[in-house]
Amino acid sequence: MSQGRTLTFNIFRYDPQVSGDKPKMVKYQIEETPGMSVFIALNLLREQQDSSLQFDFVCRAGICGSCAMVINGFPTLACRTLTSKYPQGEITLMPLPGFELIGDLSVNTGKFMRELAERLKLWLHPDQDDVDVHRLEAPMAPEEAARLYELERCVECGVCVSACATKQMRETFVGAVGMMKLARFELDSRDTRSVEDFYHVIGNQDGVFGCMTLLGCQDNCPKDLPHMQQIAYLRRKMAVALV
Ligand code: SF4
Ligand code: FES
Repeated sequence: MSQGRTLTFNIFRYDPQVSGDKPKMVKYQIEETPGMSVFIALNLLREQQDSSLQFDFVCRAGICGSCAMVINGFPTLACRTLTSKYPQGEITLMPLPGFELIGDLSVNTGKFMRELAERLKLWLHPDQDDVDVHRLEAPMAPEEAARLYELERCVECGVCVSACATKQMRETFVGAVGMMKLARFELDSRDTRSVEDFYHVIGNQDGVFGCMTLLGCQDNCPKDLPHMQQIAYLRRKMAVALV
């Protein structure tokens, strides 16, 4: 591992709130330390060189999904990316494409995920005639719980949205994160929606039939979620709904 070298960061800078500001790349240099992540380097740059640098983080442990950005051309989490990964010591940072830019490396993934949840109705639809708040929750088969848990691991970082060429070309495409979350409810035996109900939401070019299977989502998802498997699963379900 290279240590004690000087790293050069080329960072996208633009604040849409400042009138007259123009997008530009700004160069910074910093001494690398053992085990340094891109996230640590960004914090040091902000503390020591430029307090106006904007980027997001909460957990520093790959759990909150806030620190996603494009690092040397690949969308990923800054807190899980070691600077030692780059032998040339040159690191270019860009904000995730496909989201509203807040400033510099900070994008509004929260707004995107909220709108997606409203559009796809990403919440459990139980049997409303059978609601009894005093009744104990019915146990779920361990196999079903495990399948749902697998899909619940999404941290809403937005990487799969930025890595998807279809999504970048067609804004209305729901993207892998939308399909993953919808598959979670389709698999849930407590959800009363039928295949036809799901078909009305994603049985079109903005949903499962618009995916070109480029698999940027699966290749870049920091939680290694099984996008290919879920999209294929939904496609089969939607195809059956057609016959
Ligand atoms: S599916 Fe993966 S890449 Fe997409 S938002 Fe969730 S954790 Fe991030
Ligand atoms: S800071 Fe939470 S995932 Fe990186």
